[in-house]
Amino acid sequence: MSLAAETPTLDMATAEAFAENVGGILNSGTVAVMMSVGHRLGLFDVLAALPPSTSAAIAERAELSERYVREWLAVMVTGGIVAYDPAGKTYRLPPEHVACLTREAPLGNLAVYAQAIALIGQMQERLLTCFETGEGLAYGDYPCFHQFMAEDSGQTVVPQIFDVILPLAEGIAERMEAGIDVLDAGCGRGLALIEMAKRFPKSRFTGYDLCADAIEFANEAARKAGLANIRFEQRDLTGYDEKARFDFITSFDAVHDQKDPQALIRSLHGALKPGGVYLMQDIGGSAKLENNLDFPMAGFLYAISCAHCTPVSLGQGGQGLGTMWGWETAKGMLESAGFRSVDRHVLPHDPMNVWFVARV
Ligand SMILES: C[S@@+](CC[C@H](N)C(=O)[O-])C[C@H]1O[C@@H](n2cnc3c(N)ncnc32)[C@H](O)[C@@H]1O
Repeated sequence: MSLAAETPTLDMATAEAFAENVGGILNSGTVAVMMSVGHRLGLFDVLAALPPSTSAAIAERAELSERYVREWLAVMVTGGIVAYDPAGKTYRLPPEHVACLTREAPLGNLAVYAQAIALIGQMQERLLTCFETGEGLAYGDYPCFHQFMAEDSGQTVVPQIFDVILPLAEGIAERMEAGIDVLDAGCGRGLALIEMAKRFPKSRFTGYDLCADAIEFANEAARKAGLANIRFEQRDLTGYDEKARFDFITSFDAVHDQKDPQALIRSLHGALKPGGVYLMQDIGGSAKLENNLDFPMAGFLYAISCAHCTPVSLGQGGQGLGTMWGWETAKGMLESAGFRSVDRHVLPHDPMNVWFVARV
């Protein structure tokens, strides 16, 4: 009997099909980075507002360099995003594409998420070191992170907060109407809390977040809105220990990348008054990789996990559970924190996330 490993036979047709697939991944990845550039520069919005136009007219309206805009348009045309008429050398964003690539897009602006791909690219050199050393990163290492997050929650949370999200916690809107104390833990730029503070003037709203730049933005937005019933404070929630202070606590995508998610959930339980409610939104994937093969945008989410959520938790000396820590993990943590009931919901407009309503 030979000890030599059996050489696997190469199925050339399968190899060629796979190589073609990889080519498609490379092409889509680069188009996605250019979508991010277009989003940041407002180019999709300019295209949406113009009739079929030349690169010169588009650049003029966007107040950008024509040469760069023309090259960007070529990416968008070959990427199947912008339509091109060679006769008049004009470019047009079809209305069906406007519907998911512009600010105010009725289907949500998917170009927002292209920014995550550009951001991961920016982090490559730092990540190489992380892989070698096992060390983590800090929020401040990520350029524009809070702007990206606020644009994300600004379209998945804020527009749905009153009609879809708060009704998950039955009775809470009525209690906020009457006047209660509300905390948003890991509030980032605080857009959701500001909307609630506007709607419920008799309630008092507090937002805590680790990052000074996010809190500065939130305080400025609250000031501009003329709100006297809201305060934002820079606060590291590691070791958080206020007792029985709030009637309602929310966290929007802010637990899995903490240093110690279980400790945070326990402390939020302790910060609730009797009868208090915790509404927690987090990523809705499973803790088991094999269950996530068909989960929406699973590759994208694991990439964000690898490049951001895992390193920022490790960077705080934490466990680095990652974005796909799993709804089962979250539910188990809520139950072991002592909540009397824990209900899980998935909302049709937001299939990537899971929502828990936990009652003291
Ligand atoms: C994914 S972002 C979500 C931000 C915001 N809730 C939203 O939906 O736009 C997670 C937030 O948790 C905050 N965070 C992370 N670790 C924290 C800690 N130890 N204490 C307080 N906030 C923390 C981050 O600064 C960040 O704003």
